[in-house]
Amino acid sequence: MNLDDLELSWNEKESLIGKVALVTGASSGIGASIARKLAKRGAHVTVVARRRDRLDELVQELHKEGLYEVMAVSADIQKAEEVQHVVNKTINRWGRLDIIVANAGFGYRSPLVEVDLERWEELYRTNVHGLMLTLHYGLPPMLGQGKGDVIIISSIAGKEVIAGGGPYSATKYGVNAIASALRLETIDQGIRVTTIQPGAVATEFSQVAGYSEDEIRAFSSKVLPLHPDDVAEAALYALEQPEHVNIPELTIMPSKQTQRFK
Ligand SMILES: NC(=O)c1ccc[n+]([C@@H]2O[C@H](COP(=O)([O-])OP(=O)(O)OC[C@H]3O[C@@H](n4cnc5c(N)ncnc54)[C@H](OP(=O)(O)O)[C@@H]3O)[C@@H](O)[C@H]2O)c1
Repeated sequence: MNLDDLELSWNEKESLIGKVALVTGASSGIGASIARKLAKRGAHVTVVARRRDRLDELVQELHKEGLYEVMAVSADIQKAEEVQHVVNKTINRWGRLDIIVANAGFGYRSPLVEVDLERWEELYRTNVHGLMLTLHYGLPPMLGQGKGDVIIISSIAGKEVIAGGGPYSATKYGVNAIASALRLETIDQGIRVTTIQPGAVATEFSQVAGYSEDEIRAFSSKVLPLHPDDVAEAALYALEQPEHVNIPELTIMPSKQTQRFK
């Protein structure tokens, strides 16, 4: 068969100008970096997290650069009504939703027998249930449009487990399962799902996860963690692919990190 007979046509690279994005966990680290880069590429962005002051600072920073299509909506992604509110505000302002960046989450380190049950529950409610809520309320507008992108920030901890990492890894393995199901369920409706699995990234993550300053310093000087912008560039790489290209999974590691905390 002559390939020319197939009359294949490939799309150009996707432009982010005017696309409407919702980024959870945008008050610091990876989420803030993705939101910044999306806004600078011309996307309209709803930035979401609990710390309103941090979101307002980000919005102000972008305003100073002449980028006004950014909106802060504070919400706790563990709460259904708050997630629905975020989606409603986005649709009310821009009339559509093209990109969901499900990034909000945190780490927690503990041997299983010593687990603080309340913290474990919060970890699950944020990393897994919060992701489900984000997708549950965010996807319907996108499905109605027949096109959209979902970027899910998972972790290398969703691929390998270390001692003390059971609770966190369990959530990120769960995140990957949700992403895989979503990809299968929405592939025929124009939705591209990308899971990003970063290794160590220099954000507030390690402090929140319970690592001491000394541990963070020693580990960082050994592996030189990624900058949050490195992960944001990976997200943009996936988002800017031509319509016929999907990057299902993307693992990004510091060059010197072999395993998650080694
Ligand atoms: N840093 C790493 O080494 C690393 C590696 C692999 C994967 N990750 C993943 O990357 C994602 C972002 O983490 P990061 O490294 O950027 O850490 P970070 O700087 O601590 O950022 C975490 C973000 O999640 C938000 N968040 C947490 N709980 C929330 C809730 N209940 N409702 C709404 N927002 C919530 C935080 O905002 P508020 O506190 O203001 O709500 C913050 O904006 C997480 O999913 C994490 O698991 C991180």
